[in-house]
Amino acid sequence: MPVKIAPSILSADFARLGEEVRAIDAAGADWLHIDVMDGHFVPNITIGPAVVAALRPHSPKIFDVHLMVAPVDPYIEAFAKAGSDIITVHAEAGPHLDRSLQAIRALGKKAGVSINPSTPESVLEYVLDRLDLILVMSVNPGFGGQSFIPAMVEKVRRLKAMIGDRPIELEVDGGINVETAPLVTSAGATVLVAGNAVFSGGQYAKSIEALRRAAG
Ligand code: DX5
Ligand code: ZN
Repeated sequence: MPVKIAPSILSADFARLGEEVRAIDAAGADWLHIDVMDGHFVPNITIGPAVVAALRPHSPKIFDVHLMVAPVDPYIEAFAKAGSDIITVHAEAGPHLDRSLQAIRALGKKAGVSINPSTPESVLEYVLDRLDLILVMSVNPGFGGQSFIPAMVEKVRRLKAMIGDRPIELEVDGGINVETAPLVTSAGATVLVAGNAVFSGGQYAKSIEALRRAAG
């Protein structure tokens, strides 16, 4: 399977978000990565379910919604109803990860778990059969445009081995560009999030294609 590219709209122009979503879709994005930040779990505040719902008519592509929110359980249903396809929660966001994953699947959505750079992959061991996606943070979540943390390549490799033949996507988020993309795809990543690398040059199709080529 070819690697999927999931541009993060965190780096888009928030004053023209619908237009940006249409542009990134037309430019060949596989998924749209939507970063939801609560100003508590992470030191930044972004968008809520009303914005996800407003963007939904602008693209039929997969809405990959990354919830950096704690507690997260009270908000899962709202993001499901807003039109998310994949809902990813952080393992560090609460004591009942298994329950959050069950709640996501009960709403008919794909369930993802993200782990911060300092969190060991072993936290996922007992929820592997409740998961559709693992999101490895390769920066500390909160902001776009940060530098990739090289130690995360080994984490991706270990997760790939843990996943085995389960149908779980392995996504990497933070500091992905043409230099870092091949490091994580050769370790086993199947989906790459990219904010800055896609949006900063203004040439979305070119940047997505460059990432795809670098990813191999
Ligand atoms: C960081 C977000 C990322 C971010 C990636 O907290 O989860 O999705 O937008 O941005 P870049 O690719 O610029 O590091
Ligand atoms: Zn993200």
